Order: sequence, then C-alpha cells, then structure tokens
Amino acid sequence: TVLVVDFGAQYAQLIARRVREARIYSEIVPSTMPVAEMLARNPKGIILSGGPSSVYAEDAPAIDRALFEAGVPVFGMCYGFQIMATTLGGTVDDNGAREYGRTPLKVTRSGSTLFEGTPDDQSVWMSHGDACSAAPEGFTVTASTDVVPVAAFENDEKKLYGVQYHPEVMHSTHGQQVLEHFLYRGAGIEPTWTTGNVIEEQVALIREQVGDKRAICGLSGGVDSAVAAALVQKAIGDQLTCVYVDHGLMRKGETEQVEKDFVAATGARLVVVDAEKRFLDALAGVSDPETKRKIIGREFIRVFEQAQLEIMQEEGPDVAFLVQGTLYPDVVESGGGTGTANIKSHHNVGGLPDDIEFELVEPLRQLFKDEVRMVGQELGLPDEIVQRQPFPGPGLGIRIVGEVTKDRLDLLREADAIAREELSAAGLDREIWQCPVVLLADVRSVGVQGDGRTYGHPIVLRPVSSEDAMTADWTRMPYDVLAKISTRITNEVADVNRVVLDVTSKPPGTIEWE
Ligand code: XMP
Repeated sequence: TVLVVDFGAQYAQLIARRVREARIYSEIVPSTMPVAEMLARNPKGIILSGGPSSVYAEDAPAIDRALFEAGVPVFGMCYGFQIMATTLGGTVDDNGAREYGRTPLKVTRSGSTLFEGTPDDQSVWMSHGDACSAAPEGFTVTASTDVVPVAAFENDEKKLYGVQYHPEVMHSTHGQQVLEHFLYRGAGIEPTWTTGNVIEEQVALIREQVGDKRAICGLSGGVDSAVAAALVQKAIGDQLTCVYVDHGLMRKGETEQVEKDFVAATGARLVVVDAEKRFLDALAGVSDPETKRKIIGREFIRVFEQAQLEIMQEEGPDVAFLVQGTLYPDVVESGGGTGTANIKSHHNVGGLPDDIEFELVEPLRQLFKDEVRMVGQELGLPDEIVQRQPFPGPGLGIRIVGEVTKDRLDLLREADAIAREELSAAGLDREIWQCPVVLLADVRSVGVQGDGRTYGHPIVLRPVSSEDAMTADWTRMPYDVLAKISTRITNEVADVNRVVLDVTSKPPGTIEWE
C-alpha cells in the first residue's frame, strides 16, 4: 500500500488514482492521523499531497518529523513539498514568488531518481504562493523554474523526494513518469495491483463475511449496484438474491438490460417487482420537483422493504446481509470509517420484528468509478451496463416538467432513445458526460407539420461535459448530429413539434431540469 496523506482540497483523490494507474494500491489518510498509525499500516511509500494552506498560516497542517525518519520512502508534492522542506530544516519564503498554471521547469540534474529519462525542459502545473529557497541538509536540488530556485529536491539515501508542482494533473507533461519513478525506483514497489487481484481478494472477503448466510442486493440499473451484485454473486452464488424495483420511470430498454442481460451475464437470482402502477398513482397530480423526489424515494423504500420481507419469509432468518455499491470517493468524503456499519430497516408490514438489522456488504469501497467499470468488464457484464452514463434515481420522473403520466413517460422514452442512439452512432458517448432529454409537458407551442398546424410540446436536449457532475459545461456538439436528432424526434414522436438545446453551464443551471 501507498498512503496518500491528504492536506485538504481535492488533490489527494487524484493522486491516489494516479498511483493505482501505476498498478499500485493506494489509500488516502487525513494529515491529522498520527504518524504511528500511518506506519502501523506498513506503507511501502507515503505521498504528501498539495493543500490550500501556506506553511506560514497559523492553522497550517503540520507533519511529525518522525514520518521522515521511519525509513519509509516519502514523496512530497506542492504543499507536501514545502512542509517536507520546513520540517527537515530547509527554507521556504513567503516572498511573493507565486506561480499559477502551466510553468516551464528546468531539470538541473537529469540523472536524478525522479527525472531519469525525462527532458531537461518540461511543462508543469504550479499553484503556490510561498517558495522554497534552500533545500534541507543532505538534499540535492534537481529542478528549478524562473521564479523558484528549488522546484524539486531529493535525498536518495534516505529515500525522500519532493516537487513544488502537481505531477498528478495532466498539464504536468511528465507527471505520471515522475510519480512512477518515485514508486518503482525510489520506493522500489512492484506494480502488481490489478482489477483481477481485486476480484480475487473481494471474493475471498465476501465469502468470509457472509459465510453460509444469505444476502440481498438492490439493483438500480446503474453501474455500481450491478458490479457489486456481480461480485457478490461470484463469491456466494445463490445465497444472493437481487431485487429490482421497476418504478416505470426507466428509459427504454433499461429494465430489459437488468432482467435479461445482467442475469445472463451473472446467473444471479433476480426478483423483479413491477411497481409502475403504484408509482404512477402516487405521482398523479404532482408537478413540484421536490415533492416528486420525495414520493419516488418513499415509495421506493416501501416497495424494496416489502420485497425484502417476502424474501425473508421464504428463505428464513438467514438473510442477514445487504449489498451496497458504495465507492471509495463516498468513503473518503464521509471521513473514512471501517465499513462495518449496520443499517436498520423499519417496515410497516405485520408478521416480522419491527427492526430488521442488516450487515452491509460493500465490495467496491476501495474502488474509484473507472476501476469499478474495469471490474465489471472483467466479470463479463455487458457494455450497456458497465459504460452507462449517470442516470438519476428518480429517473424520468424528474425529466418531465409537469405532471408525470404514463403517456408522457412513453413519449419521453421514445425521444430519449432517439437521442441516445444518435449520440452513440456519432461516437459522442465518451465526450458527453450525460445528456438528459427533458419533456416540457406544461409548455405548448405552435408548429406546422404536414398539412396542418400543431400545438405540441418541446423536447429539451441537455448534453453536458463534466468531470464529476459538480460543475459542468454544455457540450459543443456537431450541428449535423443535433439536426439529425431534431429531425428524427419531431418526425417520429407524436405530440412533439420542437426540439431545443440547453446552452447553460453548471452553475448556474443544474444538469437536470428538476
Ligand atoms: P444536478 O441536476 O444536481 O445533477 O446538476 C448532478 C448529477 O446527479 C444526478 N442526479 C441524481 N442522482 N438521484 C440520483 O441518484 C437524484 O435524485 C439525482 N438528482 C440528480 C444527475 O443526473 C447528475 O449526474
């Protein structure tokens, strides 16, 4: 394991991913973790991340000197570099020598461990106020910039390395190479971590955890729950029952993907609950987005719990585990934790105890999204599931502006299917993060189609490009693809006489319309 010590901001997750891209397992720990606790995890290397602070700020996070004296190779980046410098007796000045963005770096010692085989002049991504002017004793300066005399240093004997810039971002042209030099050459770690190992390891762990008891997994149609279920299925076979609640708000073909393709690929036992009518009845007359979300969430839990109870009645009290597709970013963002939480299920159906306690099985807790996709692929899940773009839990229910009815859902499903088909045909699936297709059911406009005037509804296309859905920009899509989608939707979908493009970034617009 390589530990990535998190000094705040968003850098640590990216570094951890880059380490895994180098096929070495990595974990993020907070900078407040005592050094003894870090060392107790037997790390083969430690990386100190960047962070938003100045080492001179009053509340600047510090690091115990013992970390550098434990014989574990350490690589400091940006703030991690500066904290390394000051802790070990180097000098960092608050002298206005700031650099932001792409910066030319001069490698002054090409035979160095970090820079071996990389060009003397390279472009790196900087983001700092203070600057290191003198390396600690025993360190060799290996690179500089026009502004910063000490932009990288190393002490090969003690296996301590540092760079002022951010090697983890793609704008640092040789960043990954430099990181790998630390991992392979500096720390001497073998790149052996693969998704194949993950599957083997998780299968063993799941078997140990569940034993001869039984587990339930709710499938949503999304990547995470499908991969989690497939992994648990591989481990315990028919001791797992999957539940899919068909709320009638899915897109065209998605329910079939779960019912047929998922089952064909995994051999899982699947209970499909057809709850379309129940959801539509509950949504009747409701237009307010938050109310819709609440209703859909509430009904979902009720239906799922009812299914759980039926499975328990059939299979007995051995049903003790609930599988969830929690990912590593969720774990990091909720402050770590040990992964042994229990959840209580309250229900209102007679015949069984009031609280059922399930132990959670969360086999994806260590993985990033792209790794989950790789695991899914390796487990033989079809691309339609593994490469699926994000789709909200409340489904098309929040893509109809106005009341949700069966007719409107059917209409939107057709329009959405056309858009998806054309986007895929144009090879835009990777470029586009997701493309909600929205029906403005409460809006009508005049059109002319064939011989007469029409008074139909508009469909909105909302293609966005994003890294993480926190921010997004509207995708500059080729006009001919837009034209094709527009022509097909207005020709093929009754009651739609207009297609409009949403050209709003996020913020201020959210990705979804409701
Ligand atoms: P917004 O619309 O807030 O969406 O920009 C950000 C991302 O979250 C998805 N989304 C949801 N996902 N349940 C979900 O599971 C929800 O209620 C929900 N609302 C929005 C949205 O599709 C986008 O990827």
